[in-house]
Amino acid sequence: MRKTVFLNNDREMPLLGLGVYKTADSEAETAVTAAVNSGYRMIDTASVYKNEESIGKAIAKCGVPRKDLFITSKIWNTAQRMGDIEGAFYRSLDRLKLDYVDLYLIHWPVPGCYLSTWKGLEKILDSGRALSIGVSNFQIHHLEELKKISGIVPAVNQIECHPLCYPKDLIEYCQTEGIQVQAYAPLARGAYFDNDVMCVLGTKYARTPAQVGLRWAIQKGISVIPKSVHPDRIAANADIFSFNIDEEDMDIIETQNQDYHSSHVPEDLRDVIL
Ligand SMILES: NC(=O)c1ccc[n+]([C@@H]2O[C@H](COP(=O)([O-])OP(=O)(O)OC[C@H]3O[C@@H](n4cnc5c(N)ncnc54)[C@H](OP(=O)(O)O)[C@@H]3O)[C@@H](O)[C@H]2O)c1
Repeated sequence: MRKTVFLNNDREMPLLGLGVYKTADSEAETAVTAAVNSGYRMIDTASVYKNEESIGKAIAKCGVPRKDLFITSKIWNTAQRMGDIEGAFYRSLDRLKLDYVDLYLIHWPVPGCYLSTWKGLEKILDSGRALSIGVSNFQIHHLEELKKISGIVPAVNQIECHPLCYPKDLIEYCQTEGIQVQAYAPLARGAYFDNDVMCVLGTKYARTPAQVGLRWAIQKGISVIPKSVHPDRIAANADIFSFNIDEEDMDIIETQNQDYHSSHVPEDLRDVIL
């Protein structure tokens, strides 16, 4: 199976990346080094994670040429509300000490702001400082609104997705529109590790429930960005390209969906709109 996907602008993105939400400065170098040694080439950060500086240092030290890495960051809600789109972007770039990011995302669809934020991202795309632009936590109605005001289709929609949270309509919509789905919290922060079905399938495939959950997503063409700061877990989470889940078991995993959100519920933005 291929380890990368082509986005709607023909840029290539790895299916597997390292998430770094809640990765402390002191943990960044170990995590990024372990990830690179385990074959990861994509790192997913955001200004709100407050670790772009240490992640940038770790990237610089990791020994892989910049062109072979895929770095994502995101614009936070406060900057959207202030209309400070390019300012926020260049501050991220400065903290990361990079000339460009591979992907820049709108972190949340802040009501009343996300359409003008997208116009700002279009300018950033034009400048060549972000090679692709996309969105996160967008629902179908947000994407439909975006379509009305822009000819640029988001390259990626990063959403919560794992066996306990499978927003099928949204995923199918994105796939039809040429928007690559990327699963955040693909381990549900551990919530399916003791799920009966995932444990039985783990035994069947001689893998952990975490590996089965990640493999299930990439087999559906969905990119995954599991987070860990432990080298052994980082390596284990990357060992998902050497086995195949049967179609029947793929369907069984899908039945585990219970719309469980380990992060925020997308339509309830009260606690994420600052
Ligand atoms: N766009 C958004 O709104 C959004 C929201 C949430 C997350 N994200 C992105 O998605 C990434 C992943 O999501 P997430 O960090 O929320 O959750 P996650 O990747 O589903 O789970 C991470 C948790 O699982 C633990 N873990 C990782 N691998 C493990 C393993 N093999 N065995 C046991 N435990 C394991 C980690 O602990 P240790 O570190 O101690 O190993 C951590 O507590 C984030 O880091 C971030 O980059 C984006």
